[in-house]
Amino acid sequence: MAVTIAVLSQKGGTGKTTMVRTLTDVFRRIGVSTLAVDLDPQGNLSDYLDVAPEASPTVGDVLSGRASAVDAVHDGIIPANLGLAESELAMSGKMGRELTLRRALREVSDGYDVVLIDCPPALGLLTVNALVAADYALLSAEAQYFAMQGVEQALEVIELARENLNPDLEWLGVVLNIADMRTRHSREAYDSLREHFGERLFEQTIRQSIAYAESAERAQSIVDYRPDLGIDYLRVADELLGRLGLVDARGRLQPLLDDVAA
Ligand SMILES: Nc1ncnc2c1ncn2[C@@H]1O[C@H](COP(=O)(O)OP(=O)(O)OP(=O)(O)O)[C@@H](O)[C@H]1O
Ligand SMILES: [Mg+2]
Repeated sequence: MAVTIAVLSQKGGTGKTTMVRTLTDVFRRIGVSTLAVDLDPQGNLSDYLDVAPEASPTVGDVLSGRASAVDAVHDGIIPANLGLAESELAMSGKMGRELTLRRALREVSDGYDVVLIDCPPALGLLTVNALVAADYALLSAEAQYFAMQGVEQALEVIELARENLNPDLEWLGVVLNIADMRTRHSREAYDSLREHFGERLFEQTIRQSIAYAESAERAQSIVDYRPDLGIDYLRVADELLGRLGLVDARGRLQPLLDDVAA
């Protein structure tokens, strides 16, 4: 059985999609078979992972019952496009609307070790579907003044999903993203998250750099484009695998960490 992780944030532009994209890449490098699911009508993850724009069927077709999840996997990703917004609307009037993705993924997830779901920047029905389909929620928070608030709001939605629909859902933690730890406000965001959430805050932060936009443009992983920055994600992956108890995979990551450090 795959471990399913929903990556979300209350705000837009906190680096969620970059996180899903990069973790997918890192996991695959160490033999952890990973299915990426784009659950954002913007389709950014599908772009980052170089899915052809006309690829079909998509996650929208799956959610509206027009296609099976198995048929919607294209090179290890279930892509999204604007049609997903329509599917979300159509879903919203139906019984069991929160369970649609969970039911659909059941038939594919067995073939993978990890399923990563990239949520849209809203805590609406799509994100709730991701939380109901997931075993774990992982938060990305941009390092700025309102980071705390955003995390608290996302946690409320996680709590609602747990109480009403998915009692087994666990919160893996929060990663401080797009951080410039030389600035006071990034350090303050880190400290307040640490104070409120303790160990749930990942030790490792993701540094802010223009190289992320450049690597996205080139459809290249930051791990290859700028290994000196990509190491942030290798270390987040290391913490994540530790939290998931995936000891063997963590062992296979070590040589990659050593390589960059050398
Ligand atoms: N560590 C980083 N430093 C600087 N820029 C980054 C970093 N990570 C991502 N970015 C850039 O920030 C922008 C938003 O990133 P991304 O798309 O991953 O965020 P998101 O949370 O998925 O956004 P949305 O809420 O719109 O889905 C992109 O242009 C991306 O290249
Ligand atoms: Mg995104």
